[in-house]
Amino acid sequence: MSFKLKSSSWQSTQKIARLFVQTILEKKPRSQGALVLGLMGELGSGKTTFIRGFIKSFGIKKRITSPTFLIMRKFFSASQKCYLYHFDFYRSSSRKDLKILEFDKIIKNPQNIVLIEWAEKIKNLLPKNAIWLTFQHGKEINQRLILIKTKNK
Ligand SMILES: Nc1ncnc2c1ncn2[C@@H]1O[C@H](COP(=O)(O)OP(=O)(O)O)[C@@H](O)[C@H]1O
Ligand SMILES: [Mg+2]
Repeated sequence: MSFKLKSSSWQSTQKIARLFVQTILEKKPRSQGALVLGLMGELGSGKTTFIRGFIKSFGIKKRITSPTFLIMRKFFSASQKCYLYHFDFYRSSSRKDLKILEFDKIIKNPQNIVLIEWAEKIKNLLPKNAIWLTFQHGKEINQRLILIKTKNK
């Protein structure tokens, strides 16, 4: 399944993320591995903005910066009793880093929700049931297009 959404502001992108979370939570429990979201799209297209809205919906108040310099940040949602992982592979997606971060272990755990910026860099490492989101700039200055695909390829 795939659908395309148009956002006209960063607030609207966060609202889309919130609505997305609602539909995801209805689908619980997950049996196979973590819920993995692969986010693609050029710089400034809204990936981090979307993830902020997404993580905020889990009752997490901590400021959600792009983990570009950290590669990974981890959050705990007390309300949903799950961990959220925010990866950003813009700078690095080396095997060594993935191993240190225990990426494999993280995406295997059905209690985790994993959000990945620049997921195209590690495409083959994502599970088959990953949800793919592609972000694009629109014609207007604050316009973004978000393509959501629930089945890979
Ligand atoms: N409709 C929109 N959706 C998301 N971000 C928007 C939108 N309109 C303007 N922006 C701005 O564009 C920038 C997007 O940056 P960011 O989310 O960090 O992108 P990325 O993580 O893809 O590099 C932010 O400064 C945000 O305020
Ligand atoms: Mg970003």
